[in-house]
Amino acid sequence: MSPFQLTRTLAPDAADADLRADVLDGLTRSPKTLPPKWFYDAKGSGLFEEITRLPEYYPTRAEREIIIARAAEIAAATGARTLIELGSGSSEKTRYLIDALLPDLDTYVPVDVSESALTGAATALLAERPALKVHALLADFTRGLALPGAPGPHLVAFLGGTIGNLLPDERRAFLRSVRAMLAPGDALLLGTDLVKDEATLVAAYDDADGVTAAFNKNVLSVIDRELGADADLDAFDHVALWDAEREWIEMRLRARHALSVKIPELNLVVPFAAGEELRTEVSAKFREEGVREELAAAGFDLAHWWTDEKGRFALSLSTAR
Ligand code: AVJ
Repeated sequence: MSPFQLTRTLAPDAADADLRADVLDGLTRSPKTLPPKWFYDAKGSGLFEEITRLPEYYPTRAEREIIIARAAEIAAATGARTLIELGSGSSEKTRYLIDALLPDLDTYVPVDVSESALTGAATALLAERPALKVHALLADFTRGLALPGAPGPHLVAFLGGTIGNLLPDERRAFLRSVRAMLAPGDALLLGTDLVKDEATLVAAYDDADGVTAAFNKNVLSVIDRELGADADLDAFDHVALWDAEREWIEMRLRARHALSVKIPELNLVVPFAAGEELRTEVSAKFREEGVREELAAAGFDLAHWWTDEKGRFALSLSTAR
């Protein structure tokens, strides 16, 4: 049997139906919003990879530093035989974890909405690790997951600070659904970006080269291409702002002048007033106490809290109760 298997739990047209529903809902409400998952077509995924290498965007480097420093401890503490990674993307940071978990590790289960990311990452991993099995899931992990049968203990990894894309209610439901996939004693490895000074945070989401601006505007290209819309990317400005009360970064697109966007596939015309903003992403930042409480409420006991040398980002390891 090939060590690579892919299970599609997304219907081929599920993404299209979701996009239509999200755009219709998000662009007809006030204030206008769109969910960040629509950034990540091939172009947007490439732009995100570019963001992770920007001097201003510290989270990826900080998390990689922690994973490299703690991989052996994570392996010893969990003894995981199955590693499930939610939103695995390129699996670039995960390879350190996989190598620390081997040879006990039996199966790696990357979960992502991008089939090209899944097959690319699996091919690269397997080329150098013939003993590993990879069972990829093409799935939207925010919609609940059916895991393939694979030996315990299980370790779920959710890295990159992507949990910050969920609003507090969504986070609660998400953490509960992760807990429901696990047995007592299984573990969750969670990456969370930390609250810090506003200038550092805003710069990470508004870099000097304009890569994040292009990434933000890419959501308009996706709508133009997939739904036949006519949004002009140049008619919008990229905005990144820190909400000190809710402790999250928001990315927005601000209309430079009054305009309307025609979306023929939805039979919809969306008017924007001059200066009107469309929220495209929330990226929440965390503190240790808050993470501990949210995990506890979902049935996890926080066992380890590790940060990078500069204290910018945290990786926590918790145990399912
Ligand atoms: C991939 C969700 C972790 O919120 O920092 C990067 C996405 N947005 N720059 C983040 C992102 C703007 C990123 N996550």
